[in-house]
Amino acid sequence: MVGSAIVRQLQGKGYNNILTQTHAKLDLTDQLAVKNYFEKQKPDQVYLAAAKVGGIHANNTYPAEFIYQNLMIQANVIHQAFLAGVKKLLFLGSSCIYPRMAPQPMSESCLLTGTLEPTNEPYGIAKIAGIKLCESYNRQYGQSNKIDYRSVMPTNLYGPGDNYHPENSHVIPALIRRFHEAKISGAPEVLIWGTGQPRREFLHVDDMAAACIFVMELDKAVYDQHTEPMTSHINVGSGSDITITQLASAVAKAVGYGGKIGFDVSRPDGPPRKWLDSSRLNQLGWRTKIDLETGLQDTYRTIESELNSA
Ligand SMILES: NC(=O)c1ccc[n+]([C@@H]2O[C@H](COP(=O)([O-])OP(=O)(O)OC[C@H]3O[C@@H](n4cnc5c(N)ncnc54)[C@H](OP(=O)(O)O)[C@@H]3O)[C@@H](O)[C@H]2O)c1
Repeated sequence: MVGSAIVRQLQGKGYNNILTQTHAKLDLTDQLAVKNYFEKQKPDQVYLAAAKVGGIHANNTYPAEFIYQNLMIQANVIHQAFLAGVKKLLFLGSSCIYPRMAPQPMSESCLLTGTLEPTNEPYGIAKIAGIKLCESYNRQYGQSNKIDYRSVMPTNLYGPGDNYHPENSHVIPALIRRFHEAKISGAPEVLIWGTGQPRREFLHVDDMAAACIFVMELDKAVYDQHTEPMTSHINVGSGSDITITQLASAVAKAVGYGGKIGFDVSRPDGPPRKWLDSSRLNQLGWRTKIDLETGLQDTYRTIESELNSA
């Protein structure tokens, strides 16, 4: 989802020399394959948007895959990029890096100040390792090799290219799918996982892609002025959060479902609140452009016919 959005925006800015590779053609957990790729292609810059990604259910069911694959992807790509002379790299982490009970909104400085949410701890630990890889390479080789590896931590994303798998998807695509199916079948009620009380923040993927390019293109002196060598990551959020109940109503409206919304309280809620402090990014001059209502309507438009034929 994010990788494609970054490519669309770079193309829109006139880049005609973008290298992409599918998972089927290049498994980033394969060290030798990644080495060969970088030696052959020698890119100038790398956006590392590939990762094993999923919602609470997938994270809880496949913890070994989440930690192993993400650690391997990051270590292979960052190290081989370094060996191939890549000067600029942007690593995409996640808000799951922050402690479960971090003060809200969560600023970059609360990294490693407490224990993580158990349901996605393996994924969060891998993402923290990704940030520390970038920082460590900058600290050891930044001066002599002029490398500049940066990290951004997205909040929950949604938009075109999302995963609509019935069990392994994130909350917005999962809700879109369930409300769509309920609308088609005429079901009187849709049951939502958990109590509906947790608060979450959402950002459209096109805003995220714009933020990635913005951070990648920031002048090094400006980036260094707003970050620290060992707290170098930048949060990317929309600036406000809503309850899952409010989100469910907004998705039902975008989909055009008029039935009742109920809650299955036997299902896990996850952390009570996850809201990023994006003031570091905002002080650098970046703002979101797509509000949730517009974003949800656009997203449903892009996926409606695909869901009809699923
Ligand atoms: N979506 C969100 O809400 C969200 C929130 C916070 C952070 N992020 C982060 O943002 C980044 C992009 O996420 P996304 O939502 O765009 O995820 P996505 O749509 O699942 O894209 C991830 C891509 O990585 C590929 N990939 C996975 N394992 C790979 C491997 N071993 N070798 C090569 N390619 C591999 C996937 O290919 P296959 O599908 O073929 O496996 C997929 O194309 C990730 O780092 C994610 O952790 C996302």
